[in-house]
Amino acid sequence: MADHTHSLQQQVAIVTGASTGIGRQTAFALAEAGATVVVNYIGSRTPADDVVGQIKEGGGRALAIEADISREDQVEAMFKQAIDQFGTVHILVNNAGIEKDCAFTEMTLADWQKVIDVNLTGQFLCSRAAIREYLRRGPQPGISKATGKIVCISSVHQRIPWAKHANYAASKGGVMLLVQTLAQEFASRKIRVNSVAPGAIKTAINHAAWATEDALDKLLEMIPYGRIGDAEDVGNAVVWLCSDAADYVTGTTLVVDGGMTLYPSFSTGDG
Ligand code: BGC
Repeated sequence: MADHTHSLQQQVAIVTGASTGIGRQTAFALAEAGATVVVNYIGSRTPADDVVGQIKEGGGRALAIEADISREDQVEAMFKQAIDQFGTVHILVNNAGIEKDCAFTEMTLADWQKVIDVNLTGQFLCSRAAIREYLRRGPQPGISKATGKIVCISSVHQRIPWAKHANYAASKGGVMLLVQTLAQEFASRKIRVNSVAPGAIKTAINHAAWATEDALDKLLEMIPYGRIGDAEDVGNAVVWLCSDAADYVTGTTLVVDGGMTLYPSFSTGDG
């Protein structure tokens, strides 16, 4: 785990999709910074319990809550349980996301809808529940300068079009304007809304892109910094965005991609 100053002490964070991948490391990073972490998961409970167990072993507080974040009733129930248990929520990390990749002409409505439901509607439902709670509770300046914080995990594909991933790219483009709009709408209430746009991060979602030497070599051609990202790279960025060190930052996207969005094919200056 990375070394963080305890800048999130006394704060409660909900991280969606926190039992694996980027969400898991983000949960650890927030806990290390002093936050109490709600580890949202769906399906198998064992990996979520493992995250909670590790946080508790490190002296932190955590709770696993199962919820399908694309379902309104389940999101509402998760927030209610978190607030009943810990009093309020200060931080939401909208991390849960999926891919269902397919050539566009073969894409079923179900595959389109599922990705939009989880990646975009899920972020809407959780953001709405969080902002309602931030407004209900009001400011706690002794705990954090902002009344509440939201970090949406987007993707470089909020900017880079991606053939055979129309559902995914459309969902992330939607997240970008959701973030900017919420930031605009709630800045006067001292609610900060930002996103992190990861590039290629070594997790299960893109296993095929790094699992073989050939695939990894091809991937690295698109990453000027010369390595695939780790989930910690994203977790560290999330912690900073949630901390008072970023108090003047709202409505922005922090790109964490080793330069993938810098048009690497132009890097030699030739042609
Ligand atoms: C996707 C990964 C992909 C990365 C870079 C992410 O948003 O989930 O599958 O490797 O973008 O293309």
